[in-house]
Amino acid sequence: MVEQVTGVSINKANKLGKSIPKIIRLIDIEKNEYERISTTSNEFDRVLGKGIVLGSVVLIAGDPGIGKSTLLSHLAINIGRPSAVSLVPSAGNLRDKDENLVIYVAGEESAQQIKLRMDRIDSRAEVSFLEETDVDAITAAIEANMPKLVIVDSIQTMETQDLSAAAGSVSQVRESAHRLQRVAKKLHIPMFLVGHVTKEGTLAGPRTLEHLVDVVLTLEGDQTNNFRILRSTKNRFGPTDEVGVFEMNENGMKEVTNPSQVFLEERVSAPGSAVTAVLTGLRPILVEIQALVTKTNAPMPRRVGTGVDNNRLQLLVAVLQKRLKLPLWDQDVFVNVTGGLKITEPAADLAICAAIVSSFKDFALPNNAAYIGEVGLLGEVRTIRNLEKRTKEAQKLGYAKVFSAENLKNISGLLKSN
Ligand code: TYD
Ligand code: MG
Repeated sequence: MVEQVTGVSINKANKLGKSIPKIIRLIDIEKNEYERISTTSNEFDRVLGKGIVLGSVVLIAGDPGIGKSTLLSHLAINIGRPSAVSLVPSAGNLRDKDENLVIYVAGEESAQQIKLRMDRIDSRAEVSFLEETDVDAITAAIEANMPKLVIVDSIQTMETQDLSAAAGSVSQVRESAHRLQRVAKKLHIPMFLVGHVTKEGTLAGPRTLEHLVDVVLTLEGDQTNNFRILRSTKNRFGPTDEVGVFEMNENGMKEVTNPSQVFLEERVSAPGSAVTAVLTGLRPILVEIQALVTKTNAPMPRRVGTGVDNNRLQLLVAVLQKRLKLPLWDQDVFVNVTGGLKITEPAADLAICAAIVSSFKDFALPNNAAYIGEVGLLGEVRTIRNLEKRTKEAQKLGYAKVFSAENLKNISGLLKSN
């Protein structure tokens, strides 16, 4: 059962002296570009769709320890600088106090702990803190100070006295986010909310927050490397699926402006390695797919994918078995995407197949080859969107030989292409 604050009924609204709202016609609405400010990081701006829209509420979700607080500390520091630039000239908004005030609401860690983190990033950081978890007190402080940006770390620690449920419960999280969102919209102040992901991989507060906020970003990465991928899964002001790539080091997070190059830096041409180009939002990124095929005595051979969909992997293994007559039934198949990027599109199918074939047959694929295409159940290679864009990116980085539906009609060609 979920407790809720009951809304104001129509009759009650009338009694309070509120007038009946006016209906607005589409043609009477003024057309305005969204007012945006830059995060001062190209990668971050790209994911948001050219910067932070004033008055927008952005949810940043991710596993504990992945770097959400670190990324937002960078943001707070950069926006708090007097030199921070506005992308669109401000149309005389409500702000008049300290022009560069950034408020970091510390609900989870003390301001002191956050200071330690910010010191690692920049010892001259100018950020203000609110050590508070009462959302009504926070909104009051926001109204009184009119900051340029508010960061709430994290939404799960916020609560309102109007509900008796504990902080972190669905009703508290939802109501707190709702109240913050109203203030953001009313005062034209952008807000970033940190949201923890539960063990099941969903945002606590069963996805209710995703509907409430304007933008949902997830910060991903794996334990084995320092790359962090910031991905937009919902964006009312820009494209979704756009990713920004960062690298975590001892002084915080550095943006990676040339992910293709960085992801392939350590690549060695060996059996089981294939290169492909995935499209993230508008940008093609080259990644290496690695496969390891080894004999097993287990009755159920394993098919384990990291960064690729497991069902897709099972299917591709079945296609290889049937169409190329590869005896994979007594082989474990492991597939890994280097760099920690999670691939969701079928354009990587051909590279996954090529990597598996290469590992099984124990031969290295041509050093300068890239594999881009979807693989169908009949073993046919299918065209994918924006092949040209991906091909260009591949060739730019020296992968001159691009295998795709244009020159490889069927995966049987993989056996001959070496
Ligand atoms: P943090 O931002 O606290 O994660 P989250 O808010 O998502 O829980 O990051 C925690 C990890 O990042 C911690 O293991 C230490 C590491 N870290 C660095 O490697 N470099 C740094 O400059 C900072 C501040 C943290
Ligand atoms: Mg944190």
